[in-house]
Amino acid sequence: MALMSSPAEAAAPALDVERIREDFPILKRLVREHRLVYLDSAATTQKPRAVLDALARYYAQGNANIHRGVYVLSEEATAAYDAARVKVQRFLNAAASREIVFTRNTTESINLVAQSFGRRNIGPGDEIVITHMEHHSNIVPWQLLCEQVGARLRVAPIDDSGTLQLDALEGLLGPRTRLVSVVHLSNSLGTINPVEDIVAMARARDIPVLIDGSQAVYHMPVDVQALGCDFYVCTGHKLYGPTGIGVLYGREALLEQMPPYQGGGDMIRSVTFEKTTYADLPHKFEAGTPHISGAVGLGAAVDYIQGIGFDALVPHEADLLEYGTAALAEVKGLRIIGTAARKASILAFVMKGAHPHDVGTIVDTEGVAIRTGHHCTQPVMDRYGVPATARASVAMYNTREEIDALVRALHRVREMFPV
Ligand code: ALA
Repeated sequence: MALMSSPAEAAAPALDVERIREDFPILKRLVREHRLVYLDSAATTQKPRAVLDALARYYAQGNANIHRGVYVLSEEATAAYDAARVKVQRFLNAAASREIVFTRNTTESINLVAQSFGRRNIGPGDEIVITHMEHHSNIVPWQLLCEQVGARLRVAPIDDSGTLQLDALEGLLGPRTRLVSVVHLSNSLGTINPVEDIVAMARARDIPVLIDGSQAVYHMPVDVQALGCDFYVCTGHKLYGPTGIGVLYGREALLEQMPPYQGGGDMIRSVTFEKTTYADLPHKFEAGTPHISGAVGLGAAVDYIQGIGFDALVPHEADLLEYGTAALAEVKGLRIIGTAARKASILAFVMKGAHPHDVGTIVDTEGVAIRTGHHCTQPVMDRYGVPATARASVAMYNTREEIDALVRALHRVREMFPV
């Protein structure tokens, strides 16, 4: 196997991966008597000790409800929650922290925009443009909205490599287009979309743009002001943070016009039986007790990523992708799904004669964790004529040795399912 012949060999990663791995206690775990090889970070990333400690510290020393108490604990918890919002604002380079709304996850962020912005601004005969590579979370909320208001979903195609057909997307933008909603980095193909160009095309026609940055934010720096997008959504648990905390960035002018998504405590200015008025941004969109510890953990995660720095992280992950692509090519009967020129993190594949679920189960016996299935992108599977793929995805803590472990396990699959 020509694993060492990768051109990336010459460019030694600047990241001190062994030191980073020390920060992630779970990576020391044995699974089926093997050291865990975790190659499913696109599903969720593992958590550094800084995040685990922040969560434990919050619950052990600082737990209280926010915006409700005049006592020390409540004031501290409120300050910690607000500080987390400022950390996320700076991480995404939003103009103001009131443009950052905490949600449960990316899915809820998109549903919020669909039901609040969408119901107000999209009507019968209007169109929403998405792409063929969207996650179900960037398809179904728009389908629900279309059914509710009589609008239509338009889908920009991708080519065989998984590259978005930009001209075709531009051709879909017309007088009835009310929103473009596109993924930044595809979870099932790894394609990085030219979101700057898409925003420019849409803005030239006064069409707002939502970018699903779920997979992008932990692989590359994102600057929402430089992008010029109207909405940017992501989730904490892929950003090395806790589950149950998500982010909606929205341009202030748009968020101001949008009605609340959910009603309840903490999102109001005053309530009478005759009339309720709403709180200022971002609280208008955060009904009920929020995921306070989640926000605190997310803030710690953002600090952690920024401490590592994308300058070191991006080339390391690019090296793993290049190395992994070359290594998988050596496995007989393996076909990579998703070969776009601009790509990150994702190595999705099918193996002749072996169902992806069998592939996943067999590599698990060697302690290698990958995801198998349709990855919540059934239209992508249909586009390639496969029911499912196996998907290895890398993050900052992965190593070439782990890719080697995957490839060894795939050779074992090949022995069990010869072609
Ligand atoms: N969307 C996540 C994935 O791709 C869960 O695995």
